[in-house]
Amino acid sequence: MTITVVGHGYVGLVTACVFADFGNKVWVVGHTKEKINRLKSGDPIIYEPGLKELLQKNIKAKRIFFTSDFDKAVPESDVIFIGVGTPPKPTGEADLTAVIDVARSIGKNLKNSFTVVSCKSTVPLGTNKKLEVIINKHKPSKAQFAVASCPEFLREGTALTDTLHPDRIVIGSESKKAIDYLLELHKPIGGKRVITNLASAELIKYASNSILATKISFANLISFYCEKSGADVETVLDGVGLDRRTGRSFLYPGIGYGGSCFPKDVKALLAIGNDLKINTNLLKAVEDINEQVKDNMIAKIRNHTKGKNIAVLGLSFKPETDDIREAPSLYVINKLLEGGYKIKAYDPEAENNVKKILDGKIDFAKDVYSTMEHADALFIATEWNEFRQMDLKKVKKLLNHPVIFDGRNIYETKAMRKMGFEYYSVGRV
Ligand SMILES: NC(=O)c1ccc[n+]([C@@H]2O[C@H](COP(=O)([O-])OP(=O)(O)OC[C@H]3O[C@@H](n4cnc5c(N)ncnc54)[C@H](O)[C@@H]3O)[C@@H](O)[C@H]2O)c1
Repeated sequence: MTITVVGHGYVGLVTACVFADFGNKVWVVGHTKEKINRLKSGDPIIYEPGLKELLQKNIKAKRIFFTSDFDKAVPESDVIFIGVGTPPKPTGEADLTAVIDVARSIGKNLKNSFTVVSCKSTVPLGTNKKLEVIINKHKPSKAQFAVASCPEFLREGTALTDTLHPDRIVIGSESKKAIDYLLELHKPIGGKRVITNLASAELIKYASNSILATKISFANLISFYCEKSGADVETVLDGVGLDRRTGRSFLYPGIGYGGSCFPKDVKALLAIGNDLKINTNLLKAVEDINEQVKDNMIAKIRNHTKGKNIAVLGLSFKPETDDIREAPSLYVINKLLEGGYKIKAYDPEAENNVKKILDGKIDFAKDVYSTMEHADALFIATEWNEFRQMDLKKVKKLLNHPVIFDGRNIYETKAMRKMGFEYYSVGRV
């Protein structure tokens, strides 16, 4: 098939490269010429393990092409995926400006035979119906199309593996022909198929992210009980998670969820619930707890540091990505800066992105150990693997005071204390 993917971020570029690798001809449409040129030269712009290699392989094989002109890509496409951003508005609702602009451009450039317009962007209930109306309004009169909602479940950091081996592929559409096209296109990919209507597909995505955020906030809620009672949150959650009805997955106590999806999707589901006059207290509590865990960590740092120089390890919102959107590390750093602390930070991939917003306000180190030279305390904000087995004797020597704040519970409390560290983590006394 010939397909178009609009948007070349974590979702768009990964989707495009994977379908190109299966032998399809893939057009990627972006709106920044400079970025399109970088992509053409084989630079994926974002960091995602394995993506650069897959991109370069498919450019060489002449299966993936980049353009900012819809009229080059859309007319020859059988399936068009929309993968542009849907960031939150100040009200929490999803901002659909990009999705709607793109639908208009797709409509204007549709060809006469049948095209599937499938939205991978996470969009509120009813959006795909609106896209159908917009496309209808702008398309040439003879052009045939159908819309489908094909929500994306990949995780940054493992996006390629997730795309190739998903748990499920959800296809929502009122058109049997569109469903058949999408089933055919996804044939090389495993996972259960969930075929449904547009609204259910749209809601599956928000419900999926919100339940994962709920699990994280629940684990953090239990961590509050642990800190007040002497219980150990990791042991408690191991005990809970061994129940097969619950499982341990995503019961992660720490300094909360971040990233471009969970915070925005919980907010959007809240806004949708408010619109539909549904009691959304559960989701509000999920958000409140996620704020509280960050403030708790800041309080621990303020109460227990013996100076103002803090070394921070990890800036991305989670390991194996350079994405810093809604990263808990940045919230904590900003609050510490307001309190007059000096920050030196290290992240294997996210430094350039953080520089765009904090340049001049914090210092950056080139590796783990140079981060902590002359620091009064160490704060672990993101659990990159390279922070898990540091030479702790060296860490102790480098720090002015052996004080560690572990926002991700990656070290053992007893072992750290035995080594002489003042060690503060989450839900473990
Ligand atoms: N990142 C994830 O892990 C993930 C997972 C599942 C679903 N999603 C959803 O997928 C969507 C995209 O997310 P992302 O993380 O890839 O976003 P991103 O910010 O990484 O990429 C968005 C892309 O859209 C492009 N774009 C924006 N406006 C455009 C326009 N008018 N015309 C053409 N291109 C335009 C940008 O240039 C960029 O390439 C969002 O709705 C998100 O919620 C993201």
